[in-house]
Amino acid sequence: MIQILLPSEENIKKAATAIKKGGIVAFPTETVYGLGASIYQKDSILKIFELKQRPHFDPLIVHISSFNDLDEIVLRVPKKVYKLLEKFWPGPLTIVLKKRKNISDIITSGLDTVAVRMPKNEIALKLIKYSTPIAAPSANKFTRISPTRVNHILKQFENGIDYIIDGGKTDLGLESTIIKYEDDKFYLLRKGSLPVEEIEEIISEKLYKPNKKVLSPGVFRKHYSPIPDVVIVDNPKDVDDDLNSAYIAFSKKPFGKKFKVVKVLSKTGDMYEAASNLFDYFHQLEDVGVSKIYIEKVEEKGLGLAIMDRIRKASGKGG
Ligand code: TXA
Ligand code: MG
Repeated sequence: MIQILLPSEENIKKAATAIKKGGIVAFPTETVYGLGASIYQKDSILKIFELKQRPHFDPLIVHISSFNDLDEIVLRVPKKVYKLLEKFWPGPLTIVLKKRKNISDIITSGLDTVAVRMPKNEIALKLIKYSTPIAAPSANKFTRISPTRVNHILKQFENGIDYIIDGGKTDLGLESTIIKYEDDKFYLLRKGSLPVEEIEEIISEKLYKPNKKVLSPGVFRKHYSPIPDVVIVDNPKDVDDDLNSAYIAFSKKPFGKKFKVVKVLSKTGDMYEAASNLFDYFHQLEDVGVSKIYIEKVEEKGLGLAIMDRIRKASGKGG
């Protein structure tokens, strides 16, 4: 049985003690829930790979609560990088830098780099502060959608987790943006909750596309299963009534059309609201049982880039 804790000070301390002793705790961040273990507990980190059925070549992100933690984990923080992190941390930005020797190869899948982020969520920050830096992937099984609520975790895991701290629905609902700094260049490894344009504005240069050498090992083509078939809608007028299927509109319900379920990502057309609802709706529709999910496109700029990336992955056409 997995024990669920409300995020009182006392409970966060209890979970932190468990982490220090080698326990596994699922916790909220501002993006999605993470499944965490202390970076100093190798066996617990191995157990996370097992629980998630995640291949060992797919490295984990280390979550920290202060810039002091960062110095323990990476070799060097170039000035340019520091400026960027100061601007966006705590927040949904993950940076990949050269790792220190003491960071276990299990966390980094044998790479000489490590992914680090400082989440903008008080519960997560306290949990780390009261324990140690925490290695955590998203709290879902491999190839499934990341959880944005506790019940999304519970439907995927029956045991093996000591505690889940319940922080309600996560604020942003899409994973962090991952960038890598190498040879004086910034590479975009994963689109995410921090819009690319905001990063480019601070560094005053464009992010590079990853080449073979700087590939992010865990960013696969077909990612999410087994949610129903996802069909991207080019023009809502072209979709026929389908009482076995669901329809996810961006801001307006399709007029005069009948579906089993109709959902709207954001009635006001707000990208942040849309992002925060996307995985939640996928989880809900997975539970309802529909044969297809029709989903409208969103404009591909700002957060819309990450939203469309996840929609394409869900449809099996992502890259
Ligand atoms: O928002 C998030 O980032 C969430 C929350 C829990 O923090 N975490 C998350 O972790 O999405 P995960 O494990 O689902 O995705 C981490 C990604 C993987 O695709 C992995 O390949 C990449 O980060 N990654 C980790 N370390 C890396 C490294 N050293 N080099 C390149 N990519 C790395
Ligand atoms: Mg994940």
